[in-house]
Amino acid sequence: MQKILDRISEEVMQAFAAAGYDEQLGRVTVSNRPDLCEFQCNGAMAGAKRYKMAPIAIATAVAEKLAGSSVFAQADAVAPGFLNLKVKESFLTEYLQGMADADKYGLEEAKDPQTIIIDYGGPNVAKPLHVGHLRSAIIGESIKRIARYMGHKVIGDIHLGDWGLQMGLIITELKERKPELVYFDDSYTGEYPKEAPFTISELEEIYPTASGKSKEDPAYKEKAMEATYKLQNGVRGYRALWDHIIHVSVSDLKKNYANLNVEFDLWKGESSVHDRIPSMVEYMKKEGYAHESEGALVVDVKEDTDTKEIPPCMILKSDGASLYNTTDLATIMERMEMIHPDHIIYVVDKRQELYFEQVFRCARKTKLVKPETKLTFLGFGTMNGKDGKPFKTREGGVMRLERLISDINAEMLTKISTNESISGEEAEQTAKQVALAAVKYGDLSNQASKDYIFDIEKFSSFEGDTGPYILYTIVRIKSILAKYKEQGGSVDGLTLRDAVSPSEKALMLELTKFNTMMEAAYEEIAPHKVCAYIYDLANAFNKFYHETKILSEEDADRKAGWIALLMLTRDVLETCIDLLGFSAPERM
Ligand code: ARG
Repeated sequence: MQKILDRISEEVMQAFAAAGYDEQLGRVTVSNRPDLCEFQCNGAMAGAKRYKMAPIAIATAVAEKLAGSSVFAQADAVAPGFLNLKVKESFLTEYLQGMADADKYGLEEAKDPQTIIIDYGGPNVAKPLHVGHLRSAIIGESIKRIARYMGHKVIGDIHLGDWGLQMGLIITELKERKPELVYFDDSYTGEYPKEAPFTISELEEIYPTASGKSKEDPAYKEKAMEATYKLQNGVRGYRALWDHIIHVSVSDLKKNYANLNVEFDLWKGESSVHDRIPSMVEYMKKEGYAHESEGALVVDVKEDTDTKEIPPCMILKSDGASLYNTTDLATIMERMEMIHPDHIIYVVDKRQELYFEQVFRCARKTKLVKPETKLTFLGFGTMNGKDGKPFKTREGGVMRLERLISDINAEMLTKISTNESISGEEAEQTAKQVALAAVKYGDLSNQASKDYIFDIEKFSSFEGDTGPYILYTIVRIKSILAKYKEQGGSVDGLTLRDAVSPSEKALMLELTKFNTMMEAAYEEIAPHKVCAYIYDLANAFNKFYHETKILSEEDADRKAGWIALLMLTRDVLETCIDLLGFSAPERM
């Protein structure tokens, strides 16, 4: 469906042409003086010079042409030469009915669907998820859903950190504790046990212990590096242990991400491309892209136009070991071969910006990607506590994601339980649902690149610019619709009616912005635009609701029109929150 501004502009452009002026002057924008009008056109101001006329004369001529228009209730030429516009209620009804009847509320899917890979989540195996991983998961999931809704083919890949020194550290610590394990017996040739020799909680304790030891004890670190080397070079027992670590860790991660309503299509990791590295290195050397520098193998990526120093991209360390870069480049190579993406989007902490600049330049220079392949780094800011420092537990430790979520669930349960009609299982489910909305909306309503303060009291409030407020609005609509049905009303085949009050018209106008907003949210990779839209929409609805006695309305026709408007509002809100990755309960 045509966007509302395009539809309205078309009308004004025709009037410009009919009055003898360039129709391009007829572009309309949303009014910046909502007290005076809904839309405005400044074309006469721009045309004044060209036609050597007073702008007001042009505006007046155009306004005259608009007099009989089926679109505008009001088209006034005002000094010094603006066109102030208000649309007709009937035009609005027709536009919205078209939206209600169309697929995806009139959003036009991409004409040229792209294959997009979104690299997000990025947890490190065997390290507990902490709040830093929350942002990548929340933002990445939303971007994925938005792009999919626009009709693109989108693949989400978790890109596990599963191949570096942390794996060697875990293996080393296991060996210290249980040297008798068969995995450490070089002469063993039989099959290894199916059962892992540790649980997830042990694993999560082993890693920090090992990491702490290696920082203090160089000999221990040496051992861990050697274990990493042995693992990466295929020592059987180490590979078998690694399989266990991955398995135990991934089942735990799946559970955690499922609680967040986050789903990945691919569970690949740094390790997945290990076998590609030798041929990639060979290729980079043969084509003359890579050269040796102080024993290491590097690709220069600096450019003449650089204003800051961009160091070379290191492909292999002097001991021949691969790095974070190496696996990222090999992953790009694999993705290009297997998935042929048009676009890869990385949702990673913005502190990795320089790193990704190097990787992208290197990928382009070495022709791992096509010139037209888009590579985007979407760096997100830090989630801070109320003290403005990175979010911590009350005791000052790293906040584990599980703990954070369970704290919020508990707080929300207390809140929900004040509503006496909800109890037991339902209360718990609802609390979880509302808590997730609080956390996700609290995050997504900020521009991703900015730091923000994680203020759970604010986020979980039922009032203001919050997830629970949006849910509350949806629940309110659902409850009116349920009562309407109880009164014997039918919701089938209802159509919209012309607005009879300013607040109703304002709600309708807000609804018409859906497709425009969605296109912008996709183009700019900006879920916060969805949040801003539903906040405005929820406000417009609540204003209408407070001023209108919907259920006691005597005029059946008018009431039916309102019910249709409520259903459309509910559907648009629910579609939007689904794109943000949460959902609304039936009541709260
Ligand atoms: N595991 C990494 C980290 O914790 C994030 C991975 C981001 N994705 C990537 N392709 N490098 O920092």
